[in-house]
Amino acid sequence: MEKKIRRIGVLTSGGDAPGMNAAVRAVVRTALAYGIECIGIRRGWAGLISGDFVNLSGSSVGHILSRGGTILYTARSDEFMTEKGRLKAVQTCRMLGLDGIVAIGGDGTFRGALELSRLGVPVVGVPATIDNDIGCTNYTIGFDTACNTAIECIDRLRDTMQSHERCSVVEVMGRNAGFLALYVGIAVGATAVLVPEHELDFQKDVVEDIQESRLAGNTHFMIVVAEGVGSAIDIGKRIKEALGIEPRVTVLGHIQRGGSPNARDRETATRMGYYAVKAFAEGNLNTIIGTQEGSIVAIPIEEALQMKKSLQMERYKIMEAMQIGGSVRIPQVND
Ligand code: F6P
Repeated sequence: MEKKIRRIGVLTSGGDAPGMNAAVRAVVRTALAYGIECIGIRRGWAGLISGDFVNLSGSSVGHILSRGGTILYTARSDEFMTEKGRLKAVQTCRMLGLDGIVAIGGDGTFRGALELSRLGVPVVGVPATIDNDIGCTNYTIGFDTACNTAIECIDRLRDTMQSHERCSVVEVMGRNAGFLALYVGIAVGATAVLVPEHELDFQKDVVEDIQESRLAGNTHFMIVVAEGVGSAIDIGKRIKEALGIEPRVTVLGHIQRGGSPNARDRETATRMGYYAVKAFAEGNLNTIIGTQEGSIVAIPIEEALQMKKSLQMERYKIMEAMQIGGSVRIPQVND
């Protein structure tokens, strides 16, 4: 017979993302609705090792829905990467009487969760990262807010670039993936967008795009670079060498991770947090919650971590098709 879940822990781990607090709130309140107690583990896996916890009530997670960051703090733990560290974490779970852990975070968080589940602690993962690079889910909490933050910054940059007739090179986050850069690039009408999924041909992808834009009458240019491609400073230098213009380089950095989550992130985080606890209550243990075609699903963690998600290259072509004066191949329906 399945063991009844009486008490769970919730933690946030890895890079923070807008909407993590909304997910914590949803986990706590759903747990209470199911008659399950919920303990907050602070500072991610590191806190599970050291026993850094806080009691959470329904009211203690009030007024956090709209707050960026994470009230539980977050960390990246080297100790949890070791067997010894994980065994200490199991001890903490026993000491606190935890029947399982809801782990809110990205890929690294879920790899840690898988290892913990192998030591007998049930886990459910909730995907939250501005990178949107988790294979088992169409969407990760924080992505939309981060896109909007980057867009707002780039719109401001465009004003001054337009006045001074300059070229701007903007580096956005995303780790090894180009989701953030491509969405943002399309939304700001960038002259060029460089993503790791597309092998860079500097002459064609940057130099010719600027030249064609200039021939079409533009006097300012916006180049969006995903951090996974390399340094925007280097791209700026190469533009100067090739075209003799002096680009201004902006690295948006951690600005993209902060701020109040928008409607999509609050709503998705609330639904995912709810389904994470439901998975526990229904015995759907060792799973990761994801969105697939608009529905929320719980995928077995081993399978989920094998799943791959690729940047839709048709989106890249759409971005190219928007470039004024560019000679691009118009995407075919089945491309
Ligand atoms: O995974 C989220 C992310 O913001 C990535 O986009 C970025 O590469 C990384 O975290 C930065 O990590 P840190 O906060 O440790 O500098």
